[in-house]
Amino acid sequence: MLRSALSRVLSRSCIYQQQHCQRRCLVFSNDTLASLPPEFRRLYNKKGTELEQLLVLDTTLRDGEQSPGATLNVGEKLKIAEQLALMGVDICEAGFPISSPGDFEAVQVIADTVGNEIENRPQGTPMRIAGLARAKRKDIERCYDAVKGASSYRIHTFLATSDIHLKHKLFITRDQCIQQSYDAVKFANELIDGSGDVEFSAEDASRTDPQFLVDVFTAVIEAGASTINVPDTVGYTFPREIAVLFHYLKKKVSGIDNVILSAHCHDDLGLATANTLACIRNGARQVEVTCNGIGERAGNTCIEEVIMALNVRPDVVPVYTNIDTRRINVTSKMVSSLTGMVVQPNKAIVGSNAFVHEAGIHQDGVLKHRQNYEIIDPAMVGVTTDSLHLGKHSGKRAYENRLLELGYDNLDEEQVDLLVTKYKQIADKKKLVTDADLEAVIFDEIYHPIVCWELVGMH
Ligand code: KIV
Ligand code: ZN
Repeated sequence: MLRSALSRVLSRSCIYQQQHCQRRCLVFSNDTLASLPPEFRRLYNKKGTELEQLLVLDTTLRDGEQSPGATLNVGEKLKIAEQLALMGVDICEAGFPISSPGDFEAVQVIADTVGNEIENRPQGTPMRIAGLARAKRKDIERCYDAVKGASSYRIHTFLATSDIHLKHKLFITRDQCIQQSYDAVKFANELIDGSGDVEFSAEDASRTDPQFLVDVFTAVIEAGASTINVPDTVGYTFPREIAVLFHYLKKKVSGIDNVILSAHCHDDLGLATANTLACIRNGARQVEVTCNGIGERAGNTCIEEVIMALNVRPDVVPVYTNIDTRRINVTSKMVSSLTGMVVQPNKAIVGSNAFVHEAGIHQDGVLKHRQNYEIIDPAMVGVTTDSLHLGKHSGKRAYENRLLELGYDNLDEEQVDLLVTKYKQIADKKKLVTDADLEAVIFDEIYHPIVCWELVGMH
């Protein structure tokens, strides 16, 4: 039954890989490499050998929004999606369309707008918009209706595969699981009719019998899935263990070389970033991440740690992405402000202390040579220090310039005017307007959660 679809699907998958995971063909010598501008240099490793691309799927608006208390409305989701597009995210999982009318609307609005914009995109193509769907026809149809307005879109369907979920949640056998997965992917593939793509996730993959996982993945690849996701749904695995699993899947699943293997790790044991990096080292060419690591329970792998690990240690994890790292800081702050999920001060990369040196010995060391205690230039993630004093005599241009330096380059004229008026009011009171003041006003006036109720009195 499955054979006839195989050759058609494989040739489509090959085209998909060429389009979305292109390998650079030029090879440079070390000298030539050193003379390249940094944005080209990062595409090659030290030997001048081409790097492979790692696709970044951001699920802040779906798995991230499943954080207790982090609910976002349509307008807030749209703002975040716009920022993710600017940052260079390849695929934005915008929501779970069947879960509520609000989620459907958000995915649809994002697909129709951001999903067609190429302005300021590092890739020069619009961000792909994905929606989540259980392995059920009605979910998949709803998802398709929500995402189809985007110029490239994805149906991401999933079914649990571990015995514990089959026995105690889904009440189905392994055979039924394979059939349902196959049918779901085939149906999704028929719906998109060659215009989008289909991802399949084996929920709780890290607790699934690996041999059974091979059978499920082989079936869904035959049904037309072009991305195969291996979630560590409950944050249970260890780097060595998931590395072995990826290695095993690469060897045993037929058709695996023609699809993208994806990692999706949760942080219950604080190992999400380490596990994700282990997956990349063992063949994952898509990572599923959220901003600030928000998500179910202890959250998901965070985008900022994975991206900076790749940037700081390309010798260990030799892949490249399209992420513009200079937008990491602003994106983190926007997500924190809109979701109300505070970032802990000592959080790697985006915590307020991440680049602050307090101890005398460290301060002395940094003053002598920054790299004594800094492995990342803060400017690389958009953390800059005040270059010009701003006060009541500063003009609109000076404020505007500082906003641009801080990474706020997508504000319109009206928003800038409003901000400058507020800054001048602050300057009247305290002479100097700091970066913290500038950002506090932005988050009060522009990136603030929309007020949906108000306490007007108490008895
Ligand atoms: O954690 C998980 O298993 C998921 C899937 C739905 C991809 O979020
Ligand atoms: Zn998840």
